[in-house]
Amino acid sequence: MNATALNSALQDLPVGEVHYFASIGSTNDFAAERIQAGASPFSVVVADEQTRGRGRGGRGWFTPPGAALAFSMLFYPQEQPAERLALFGGLGALAVARAFEELYRLPAAIKWPNDVLLGDAKTCGVLAEAHWEGSRLKGVVLGIGVNVTPGSVPPDTALQFPATCVEAALGRRVDRLALLRAVVAALLAEYPRLGGAGFLRDWQARLAFRDRRVQIIDAGVAVQEGTIAGLMPDGRLQLRDSSGQLHRIGAGELHLRPLE
Ligand code: BTN
Repeated sequence: MNATALNSALQDLPVGEVHYFASIGSTNDFAAERIQAGASPFSVVVADEQTRGRGRGGRGWFTPPGAALAFSMLFYPQEQPAERLALFGGLGALAVARAFEELYRLPAAIKWPNDVLLGDAKTCGVLAEAHWEGSRLKGVVLGIGVNVTPGSVPPDTALQFPATCVEAALGRRVDRLALLRAVVAALLAEYPRLGGAGFLRDWQARLAFRDRRVQIIDAGVAVQEGTIAGLMPDGRLQLRDSSGQLHRIGAGELHLRPLE
């Protein structure tokens, strides 16, 4: 991967600035600086290696050189309501799932709120971060990390949730720039549908563990148990408890764990 190859992979897509780093702390941090500088919508920041990659819940994100896809994209939503932010995580996950399906014919599932699974193992994580100017939403950075080669799968994740990579799921080498191009194209195609009925239907159709019993985990502690019933229009999860009552679970820093 290099700047020339990156620019040519994205050349016919309506993106904004394109930044390439052989190594950087976190593409989300650099993208946040570009939001503050007022960079164009759909600007893209790509890194071959991240030395301080960030995941949800304050966790790190492993991005060794030459092994993963790690990038961030800038959005300037017109509508302000804070709940739309949860939808951005869904946007990232849906775009990656679509790219996996279209490029490799691999069926992908989305583990709420926004992990992409191949064969029930995590292959991609999404980190959507809002940037404010006072009480006004200035922009959103959508960070996407995909495990591409076996070297990108962190050694210790099996304890939290099993992880895999695209090459293991596919059984052959993967061109990271072709994958990036497909994900960026899917993000641009899905963004105008954000929060609409079709967008929610497509996200919901890929929900992992649908109709199965799961636990909702908050900071390592199980806070709710139930069966996944679907999604709310704002991206919250609907969970049915054992008495049949529906609970709406906001994304925040929560994640879920299947029980069976
Ligand atoms: C998760 O915890 O599942 C979310 C992981 C998000 C990782 C991506 S890699 C590109 C971008 N830069 C970061 O520092 N994090 C995101």
